[in-house]
Amino acid sequence: KRKIIIDTDPGIDDTYAIIAALKYEGFDVQGITVVAGNVGLDNCVNNALGIVNLMDAECLVYPGAEAPLKLLNENKTYTLDGLVHGESGLGTVQLTPDFSKKSDTHAVDYILETVKENPGEIEIIALGPLTNIALAIQKDKETMKKVKKIWSMGGGVRYGNRTPVAEFNYWADPEAAKVTYDEIGEEVEISMIGLDVTQQTRFNLDDLFFLRTECGELGALLGEMSNHYMETYWNALRITGVIVHDLVAVMLAIDPSLSSEDDVFERVNLQMECEGICAGQSVVQFTPNETEAKNATVYMGIDNVEFKKAFFQLVFPEYYT
Ligand code: BDR
Ligand code: CA
Repeated sequence: KRKIIIDTDPGIDDTYAIIAALKYEGFDVQGITVVAGNVGLDNCVNNALGIVNLMDAECLVYPGAEAPLKLLNENKTYTLDGLVHGESGLGTVQLTPDFSKKSDTHAVDYILETVKENPGEIEIIALGPLTNIALAIQKDKETMKKVKKIWSMGGGVRYGNRTPVAEFNYWADPEAAKVTYDEIGEEVEISMIGLDVTQQTRFNLDDLFFLRTECGELGALLGEMSNHYMETYWNALRITGVIVHDLVAVMLAIDPSLSSEDDVFERVNLQMECEGICAGQSVVQFTPNETEAKNATVYMGIDNVEFKKAFFQLVFPEYYT
């Protein structure tokens, strides 16, 4: 089985993603590390503990960074200005946290210990700002070079969603994304699964209806959770349905062939902009010259129909044929 750490800020789409990862038999989810992002750290941790309880998962939850690098360095607290996922992070749904699954070990130490114990074997699926990953690199870069692979939902070549050029996770902590790609991107394969990919996917109203009415209790719960997300999409973008960004990263980690070979660009150059109006932008050079680091793999497309089919078959095999 592949050894996985999920780093996350749950989050409605994180919840879909974590459930899929926990359901997939090819993954041995070692632990869930949590970062502040969609909502503050405490809410994200409680939501992660709720998901672990819901799914009866064995892994522990490790609280991590309370704020992005810049704020941590200035000793400032993290406050949010937009609540795409509702105040608690899961729309109107309240899960019951299993506090016995909360570890006292900090996420950063847990990541480093686990990589040390399993050099070359750990894959990290990062579904939030990259703060925990960057802190781990700053603490012990040589160990982090022994990560097998990082799948990062974030960034975008052609679009932003938090600003015209910046996607939320990379906008929330651009310095962390920069540290990650700059410091270990040449040694560790980091796959950017950004808005170019996720925005090609959509759970439309039919999918959400099916989920809510035909997929048992878990489907009803995800459907209910998605109502808030759906309203956000409608109010902000006049889009019906939802884009379940983080789930795309997990489904691609499970089966990269959901993207055609033409949509995957290996060993390209990615640079993060951290200042000014372009802060949080991921700038990709698809044909790097000799002086530019080949520090990223960038996904640019996915088959939306196959993606959704793979999700329903994985999580709801008894209801989906
Ligand atoms: C990303 O931002 C968050 O709101 C989602 O959970 C996802 O990780 C999409 O831009
Ligand atoms: Ca997320």
